[in-house]
Amino acid sequence: MALQKIHFISLFPDVIRDGLSHSLIGKAGDKITLNFIQLRDFAKNKHKTVDDTPSGGGAGMLLKPDVLFDAWSSVTSLEEKRLRPAAERPYTILLSPQGKLLAQSKAKTMASHHRELIIVTGHYEGVDERFIDLCVDEEMSIGDYVLTGGEFAALVVADVLIRLIPGVVGSEESVARDSLENGLLKAPQYTRPREFQGLTVPDVLLGGNHAAIEKWRSEQSQARTKRKRPDLWEALKKTKQ
Ligand SMILES: C[S@@+](CC[C@H](N)C(=O)[O-])C[C@H]1O[C@@H](n2cnc3c(N)ncnc32)[C@H](O)[C@@H]1O
Repeated sequence: MALQKIHFISLFPDVIRDGLSHSLIGKAGDKITLNFIQLRDFAKNKHKTVDDTPSGGGAGMLLKPDVLFDAWSSVTSLEEKRLRPAAERPYTILLSPQGKLLAQSKAKTMASHHRELIIVTGHYEGVDERFIDLCVDEEMSIGDYVLTGGEFAALVVADVLIRLIPGVVGSEESVARDSLENGLLKAPQYTRPREFQGLTVPDVLLGGNHAAIEKWRSEQSQARTKRKRPDLWEALKKTKQ
């Protein structure tokens, strides 16, 4: 099963829409449907209020559970969430610095296990916990730092997922051979000119011997993973053991 639809619930859906409208992802319209939901449309009063102060005091404002719930219910229902298996209903992700860190392996699983996703972006101090309890299947983080809102995180998550849909990147081989796909970093890459500022393209890449090129790339890939990302190298060794 491949991912076919992503709904974004956000206070700034245009940020996400604009960010996804360029280059390869922008041209993926025939492979995936993107639905942008303005959270403020579900506000309950004429001032279009979507946030309120934290119970018990404290700094900042929280997105209100009823507003979030109604925006979420415009796409799916609690009944569906309770009764239908995740793969058959929209699966809800809340972007949060408290979530599990996104990694390529996780993105691959998600892109192939879910037909439809709802990505909710928080803002201000975050969201009322009851919305998480009721509606969210998974909290996801894009790194151990705190953003002002989830829109840029949504862009990252959506770009990673859409790129994995077959046909979005012209050559599927290039996706499969990119860094992190097999737990390794990709070997150094060069293009013309052959010499630039006194630095030359390695001879092996220009010799036309495909077996030698593959061997060189594999060795370089391992060496640079060991050097640049010893954590990945150790993880790979463990998997092999
Ligand atoms: C200022 S943050 C809220 C942080 C929250 N008060 C806490 O301490 O966990 C506002 C929103 O930005 C988004 N956000 C911030 N950092 C993020 C990260 N590293 N990954 C994903 N989303 C993030 C989330 O949607 C979050 O609700």
